[in-house]
Amino acid sequence: MDRSVEVVIREPTAEDADGLGAAHVAAWQIGYRGLMPSGYLSRLDAGARAERWRRTIVEGGSDATTLVAMVDDRIAGFTSYGPPRDDVDDGWGELWALNIHPDFWRRGIGTALFSAATNGLVGLGYSHAYLWVLRGNDRAIAFYRRQGWQPDGEVKIDDQRDFTPPLVELRCSTALV
Ligand SMILES: CC(C)(COP(=O)(O)OP(=O)(O)OC[C@H]1O[C@@H](n2cnc3c(N)ncnc32)[C@H](O)[C@@H]1OP(=O)(O)O)[C@@H](O)C(=O)NCCC(=O)NCCS
Repeated sequence: MDRSVEVVIREPTAEDADGLGAAHVAAWQIGYRGLMPSGYLSRLDAGARAERWRRTIVEGGSDATTLVAMVDDRIAGFTSYGPPRDDVDDGWGELWALNIHPDFWRRGIGTALFSAATNGLVGLGYSHAYLWVLRGNDRAIAFYRRQGWQPDGEVKIDDQRDFTPPLVELRCSTALV
């Protein structure tokens, strides 16, 4: 069965903030179930997240480029990519985020956004790229392996959130060119 849908990928405008907030929170609440504390996930607020997206889009305060995937005028997901936020070799860019609304999983939208992001990283001049994925996020790890990105042995503890036990992140990387 062909489950693919027609996707338009473009940069977001401020009008997309609500859709971004909804997709972002739903992707986390379903995608990180069992990986992050349930109380933390249930308190995530799509409206508050939308407000943060609105500010980022209007004020342009991020180093990352964000692209949204539109399906029938609805935001199905987004990706952000750009310069590395870690101490890595010259020539390495980072895929900062990739989140698809669960309503749209397994329709090829992650692949379309991922491909746009890697093309964007090449366009920015990077020869290699990496991302961090939560240990145990088998769905995403399977997705990245399918794209040819492999866990490369680097590991870090997520120090942004004070969870017990702390979140462990695995690095996946690839040569881009
Ligand atoms: C991981 C994620 C981005 C995948 O997006 P998606 O749009 O569903 O992915 P695609 O439909 O393009 O899948 C492409 C391929 O990846 C693999 N894949 C995707 N989801 C998978 C799953 N649940 N189990 C196994 N393989 C999977 C498959 O090989 C799939 O091809 P197929 O459907 O023809 O078998 C999405 O599930 C998501 O947003 N998850 C929550 C947030 C998250 O974990 N983001 C990553 C943070 S590092």
